[in-house]
Amino acid sequence: MKSIAAIILAAGKGTRMKSKLVKVMHPLAGAPLIEYPLTAAHEANASRIVVVIGHQADAVRDYFSDREDIAFALQEEQHGTGHAVACAAPQLRGFHGSVLILCGDVPLTRAATLRDLLQHHEDRQATVTVLTASLDNPFGYGRIIKNSTGEVTAIVEEKDATPEQCAIREINSGIYCVEAGFLFDAVSRLGSNNAQGEQYLTDIIRMAADRGLSCAAHPISDPLEVMGINDRVQLAQAEAVLRKRINESHMLNGVTLRDPATTYLDRGTLIGRDTVVGPGVHISGRSEIGEECSIEPGAIIRGCRIGNRVVVKAGSVLEGSIVHDAVAIGPMAHLRPGTELLEEVKIGNFVETKKVTMGKGSKASHLTYLGDASIGSDVNIGCGTITCNYDGVSKHRTVIEDGVFVGSDVQFVAPVTIGHNSVIAAGSTVTKDVPPDSLAIARSHQVNKEGWKKTRGSG
Ligand code: UD1
Ligand code: CA
Repeated sequence: MKSIAAIILAAGKGTRMKSKLVKVMHPLAGAPLIEYPLTAAHEANASRIVVVIGHQADAVRDYFSDREDIAFALQEEQHGTGHAVACAAPQLRGFHGSVLILCGDVPLTRAATLRDLLQHHEDRQATVTVLTASLDNPFGYGRIIKNSTGEVTAIVEEKDATPEQCAIREINSGIYCVEAGFLFDAVSRLGSNNAQGEQYLTDIIRMAADRGLSCAAHPISDPLEVMGINDRVQLAQAEAVLRKRINESHMLNGVTLRDPATTYLDRGTLIGRDTVVGPGVHISGRSEIGEECSIEPGAIIRGCRIGNRVVVKAGSVLEGSIVHDAVAIGPMAHLRPGTELLEEVKIGNFVETKKVTMGKGSKASHLTYLGDASIGSDVNIGCGTITCNYDGVSKHRTVIEDGVFVGSDVQFVAPVTIGHNSVIAAGSTVTKDVPPDSLAIARSHQVNKEGWKKTRGSG
């Protein structure tokens, strides 16, 4: 096959989104809209990709700042789709293969569809091949005009179409494959003598036909694949389609989703075999979950790496954390960023952690706040323990070494270090380091005033 480049048109504002954010940066299943055509172009083997940006160009460029495989072309004023492609031409100077043209706001096109389009283009030795769909309601789309042999002779925009042309149901998806040499020459010659006063990319079809070059249509059966996102209703429709695709791929890979309709797994989520995901679970931020885990109803997991045989009980929230094998979390626990739990750790209900490492087999079973702490292995943290990590100005660390037993209702006033195998008596407020193998009691002595109640009389 010839070499392939892709141009992704994304300079438009997206007025109907009614948003401060440019349309192509709106999130869809955890990635901005524009990620979808970009990925599809990659998977269709495009070796060079140029994104045409205009509105909020910096926002788009910044988002992809670490992607060296993408080039950007700036279209400062949007004079139409043909003008947008012309703006990309300098980035593809010297390129001689086929150019895929995609829209930044059409997220559901499958890479396989693009590969079919490229194959069809090559088989037909066409100069232009248009991806088309037949819609019951073609309103708003360009209509495909064909001659008696099935060659495409023109694409007519809704606003420029005659009533007979409007009745045509085969529409232009806005996705094309075009020979580079013809494309860049054609877009440099476009006029704007039409209802919208724009340079229409679609006019290149007529130009090719006039030159006796072949223009083919490649029809697809699933119109969702060419659905463009113009408003937030369509954004939600596309999200539903994507979620279904994502969920089905996990299920086919061996993950049980007990209620796929209420399971929200973002693009990029990885889940191992025989993991069971309950209803109402949300997993986002490129999280990775191992095998044979149980993710119970209502759990929210964002940007976490979770090992095998981990149980995340109902209603727990995990963010930016690393969880090793056989850990149990929750119900209703909150792991905040910077938490790392080694094997067999147990975090119980109403426990919050932040920037904490806990060694193998350690437990904090109930009602506890652990922040800015290094906790060794086989440590027992009693109910109601609090690391007092913040003095109003700066954060300080608590270090608890291996084998320490912390009684209930203990406060550690950081910075403080507890030596290995020590015991902290319940109710202690620990302000000084504790040496290893010690008992620390830091609470006032109990005073019993015998008969005191009786001396108060009966009033
Ligand atoms: C276009 C097609 C129409 C097709 C439809 C499919 C033309 C003239 N019409 O119409 O036949 O049925 O797509 O969705 O091409 N863009 C730029 N710069 C511009 C103008 C547009 O980058 O100056 C980008 C937009 O951001 C968008 C894409 O090109 O991603 C399509 O533009 P849009 O204005 O939505 O084209 P339509 O009028 O829908
Ligand atoms: Ca559109």
